[in-house]
Amino acid sequence: MERTFIAIKPDGVQRGLISEIIERFERKGFKLVAIKLVVPSKTFAQKHYHDLKERPFFNGLCNFLSSGPVLAMVWEGEGVITYGRKLIGATDPQKSEPGTIRGDLAIVVGRNIIHGSDGPETAKNEINLWFKPEELTNYTSNQEKWAYGVN
Ligand code: GTP
Ligand code: MG
Repeated sequence: MERTFIAIKPDGVQRGLISEIIERFERKGFKLVAIKLVVPSKTFAQKHYHDLKERPFFNGLCNFLSSGPVLAMVWEGEGVITYGRKLIGATDPQKSEPGTIRGDLAIVVGRNIIHGSDGPETAKNEINLWFKPEELTNYTSNQEKWAYGVN
């Protein structure tokens, strides 16, 4: 089953939005398979955002990501990579639709509270970067047969 890497950035953690964000993924029917609170080093943040290293905001972005606790998670479900991004909303909260996480809970692009992998390859790489294999769980959740049906 498809998996994606989702992280609540230091602003989301500090603003007390952890439960609100987790609730949105849970209520959709997605399954949490890994979770931990970590303060990434700047070097680690640079690895996570390596695709953006030429951008003018790269240094500030990496300083910010490493400035406090990040809630790192792996969520599983059919279409979770693409739909996770829909739940999150557009990068700039001024352009995110109401009803999305960034649309409802954030104001500026540099403090958009949450990260989500943008494709299957990125999801695989980010999960491997943030989690050891033994930190990823495999289980059947009670709600799966109701969320997906049988046959
Ligand atoms: P992530 O899920 O965090 O990867 O965001 P994204 O995929 O929606 O956007 P992208 O990967 O292009 O950018 C990564 C992060 O860099 C964004 O979430 C923003 O926090 C930040 N960022 C992107 N564009 C800008 C910008 O123009 N200015 C500033 N200050 N930050 C930006
Ligand atoms: Mg991105």
